[in-house]
Amino acid sequence: MDAPKEIFLKDYTKPDYYFETVDLSFSLGEEKTIVSSLIKVSPRVKGSSAPLVLNGHDLKLLSVKVEGKLLKEGDYQLDSRHLTLPSLPAKESFVLEIDTEIYPHKNTSLDGLYKSSGNFCTQCEAEGFRKITFYQDRPDIMAKYTCRVEADKSLYPVLLSNGNLISQGDIEGGRHFALWEDPFKKPCYLFALVAGQLASRDDTFTTRSGREVSLKIWTPAEDLPKTAHAMYSLKAAMKWDEDVFGLEYDLDLFNIVAVPDFNMGAMENKSLNIFNSKLVLASPETATDADYAAILGVIGHEYFHNWTGNRVTCRDWFQLSLKEGLTVFRDQEFSSDMGSRTVKRIADVSTLRIYQFPEDAGPMAHPVRPHSYIKMDNFYTGKFSIYLRSLGFLLSIVFQSNVLVFSFMKRVLISISKDMMSKLVTCEDFFAAMRDANNADFANFLQWYSQAGTPVVKVASSYNAEARTFSLKFSQEIPPTPGQPTKEATFIPVTISSSSTILRVTKKEEEFVFSDIAERPVPSLFRGFSAPVRVETDLSDDDLFFLLAHDSDEFNRPLVLNPKFIQGLGSVLSDSTLDKEFIAKAITLPGEGEIMDMMAVADPDAVHVVRKFVRKQLASELKTELLKIVENNRSIEAYVFDHPNMARRALKNTGSSEYKSATNLTDQFAALAALSQNPGKTRDDVLADFYNKWQGDYLVVNKWFLLQSSSDIPGNVENIHALQTTIIQVYSLIGGFCGSPVNFHAKDGSGYKFLGDIVVQLDKINPQVASRMLSAFSRWKRYDETRQALAKAQLEMIMSANGLSENVFEIASKSLA
Ligand code: ARG
Ligand code: ZN
Repeated sequence: MDAPKEIFLKDYTKPDYYFETVDLSFSLGEEKTIVSSLIKVSPRVKGSSAPLVLNGHDLKLLSVKVEGKLLKEGDYQLDSRHLTLPSLPAKESFVLEIDTEIYPHKNTSLDGLYKSSGNFCTQCEAEGFRKITFYQDRPDIMAKYTCRVEADKSLYPVLLSNGNLISQGDIEGGRHFALWEDPFKKPCYLFALVAGQLASRDDTFTTRSGREVSLKIWTPAEDLPKTAHAMYSLKAAMKWDEDVFGLEYDLDLFNIVAVPDFNMGAMENKSLNIFNSKLVLASPETATDADYAAILGVIGHEYFHNWTGNRVTCRDWFQLSLKEGLTVFRDQEFSSDMGSRTVKRIADVSTLRIYQFPEDAGPMAHPVRPHSYIKMDNFYTGKFSIYLRSLGFLLSIVFQSNVLVFSFMKRVLISISKDMMSKLVTCEDFFAAMRDANNADFANFLQWYSQAGTPVVKVASSYNAEARTFSLKFSQEIPPTPGQPTKEATFIPVTISSSSTILRVTKKEEEFVFSDIAERPVPSLFRGFSAPVRVETDLSDDDLFFLLAHDSDEFNRPLVLNPKFIQGLGSVLSDSTLDKEFIAKAITLPGEGEIMDMMAVADPDAVHVVRKFVRKQLASELKTELLKIVENNRSIEAYVFDHPNMARRALKNTGSSEYKSATNLTDQFAALAALSQNPGKTRDDVLADFYNKWQGDYLVVNKWFLLQSSSDIPGNVENIHALQTTIIQVYSLIGGFCGSPVNFHAKDGSGYKFLGDIVVQLDKINPQVASRMLSAFSRWKRYDETRQALAKAQLEMIMSANGLSENVFEIASKSLA
């Protein structure tokens, strides 16, 4: 293998050649697939003599033709990653034809063209298209595509690609074909192809300008009943984007395909979204409220990409936050409008704290816009941290009021869809659009794009009774990160108390003085989490307790253990004016990872013991209130997915564990989760009962795996070894295990060894998944010396493995650096 190469933003240069049209033809087969491409190429500079360098990975080159003339071996250069054409016609445009052979049935990386449950499907973002054919695999090559797919008719009755179906028909030998044409220019990462035995749930959506769009959700026939919620979500998203942003769907057909084997959540390929089945299929018996909510959010997310990402797209992968930040912002707003805004915000922020903050403090720390990468896939990790602390997220907090955010974003979207449609954009372009469309002053906000690390903001308050003034002194500090020892001040918006005031902190130290204040106030700062920072205030426990009981900003009610804490939670529990889902969130303690992240030296054992103690204590002290809640919030009627019902179930499940009587998976799973934490016969029986019932449904079995792997029961690594899994279940199993600190960080090193071995094995099968699992090691320096030595030994063992992927190399080497 060639040594992994680091790619830098500062090295960006325009391509020497553009591709205008691309006609692809796939002959799909069991042993091999032939891909023919016919590309109209035009040099960027007339008469250019630059070589044309095409990316290609795991491809067998059959032939190359330029202007119909077959090239001989000496006419081009081929290495393990590139096909280089050194001399090309000095013409305004010429035709390039390339035939390649690929082996989708052997492709376990789930990147490029591969098979899932017997069907063919693709995943091209970020750089998977180079595993399909030789191409300039970069987002700034935008071309119009046609795609002809040919396959055995009985094995693959359904043939799909992007755009509109132009023609289809039978051909000899029991084969058939379909020809698709996408009228919009696109980068190759949005290309998609699906072929297989699939059935569709069909519906239509009439756009506000009166066009009828045909909607199809494709799955194996037996799963169709489970696609009702996905279809509801799609139609809701289409309507919402019209109502809120005035954005209408731009084709007459929209396809979603659900596949069991998929590296991530889903993919926004133009008019042919491909989804991990778990984000499409749902029924009350097999999916929880959280699954229903995730489906709604992700269907929305991928749909919204049709404008933010597909029509307006990124110049290069360093600009990823542009499409992802903006689209995450849109899906968060969509979910908030469909459910509870506060609860959604708390969930999003807790994701940010659990994934973004630790990443910011570790070896993979990077600004919203990274300066370099070895393997772009690694920047989609940590629950998509680049998405989270990104433009959309920051924006939604600069403007606290939704009305403001919406009108602001609407102007931005209108401006970009006018000026940048079908164009390549950078963060600077987008930033200019935001500024110009709104006359906004962002001060040194752009620092977020170049500086890594979570700012720590200290706030000191003082009240002067004589002068009737109240002062808030802020100081900001961004900790050093790899390659960035010192940082500049950045723009931190601070929302404060019930006034809609936003303090604009832009300097390292800044003081704000409020006059005419009659008595010492207890300020509620960073309301609604107005900036992704760590805050240290000088508020006393009494002040915090006051806020817990009185703060009108639900987000800001802190969780602090205090003698008055139990009493405070008791009153939250019985406050009938509060949203039930909010109450459920408020009385749920932060996870062990989140707590450990606040310690100077992370101590998994201590956190585990203390958190368990606090939980027990709360349960016994608040027993009466909790039982009352269970009584009053039982599920009586059939399952309905809406906010009041979800909120009711969430609240009830904080207090109960009623496995047998449950009528939906939300209730039943909550009970199962509680039971799985207590070793013994009841646990074993219930887990066995659940498995027997659902062994035929791999999505439910996955959850069963997750429960067991994330269990705190002592010595759980042994149990995991005993569970035989398939590659699809690796996420649940390994991910769950590493997310459960006591067992993963076991002092004897058994958890670390388990992960080390798995990563090496997995890397040969699927580098993307291997490197994601490996990330659990990245913060090894946060633990005590014994654990550090054990983790380091595993990282070194991984680094010394043969044939390491670029994905794993990047994480392991940066972790050791
Ligand atoms: N753009 C996709 C989404 O927003 C993420 C796909 C990334 N996939 C990958 N293998 N890197 O849902
Ligand atoms: Zn996305």
